[in-house]
Amino acid sequence: MINVALPKGRLGEKVYAMFEKAGYECPAIKENTRKLIFENEEKGIRFFWVKPSDVSIYVERGAADIGVAGKDILLEYSPDVYELLDLNMGKCRMAVAGKNGFYDDGVKTLKVATKFVNIAKRFYASKCRDIDIIKLNGSIELAPILGLSDVIVDIVETGTTLKENNLSVVETIVPISARLISNKSSFKFKTEEIENIVKCMKAQVKTDD
Ligand code: PRP
Repeated sequence: MINVALPKGRLGEKVYAMFEKAGYECPAIKENTRKLIFENEEKGIRFFWVKPSDVSIYVERGAADIGVAGKDILLEYSPDVYELLDLNMGKCRMAVAGKNGFYDDGVKTLKVATKFVNIAKRFYASKCRDIDIIKLNGSIELAPILGLSDVIVDIVETGTTLKENNLSVVETIVPISARLISNKSSFKFKTEEIENIVKCMKAQVKTDD
């Protein structure tokens, strides 16, 4: 049995549809219940829904053999897992944003509000820029508007949230997409099953053109 941690929400539903097309269907998952675990014994697969940012924790600790996590989470928490496949969905970018017209003169310590503390620290360390990190848990866009920070480091998908709040991207840090990840010892002991899933999922990955 391969245990799969899927991210709850819209991305997770798309990811499940990929599994389904790849031949790993589990029809019970579509019933409108509050159940969290679904299994197809014949196909040897069991899915469960977890909070997107928790997927890599389940996989790293082996409670799930494989899972789907955003590259943002993998970069931020560096879980000890294998990254097997870029699913080319859930695409967005990690970016620095500030009030429209913001310019970093590079003189004063830059106040950076973010949920992604490690990504932000690494990014500015690579530029030798002094920063003061302000860790927030949501509604990051408020910080520069209220003067809590100079800039934010956050996910930008359509750009609507920034635009509607008179903010704009200053710099892109890294493109983000959903990745299929595996627990390291699961990969060692269930190599054939996991590689087969990767092969079938790869055939479902949509290219950009
Ligand atoms: C993310 C991010 C932005 C928004 C960007 O938040 O923090 O607020 O999406 O999307 P856009 O460019 O399409 O407007 P999310 O909805 O994931 O919720 P969060 O605030 O809990 O992180």
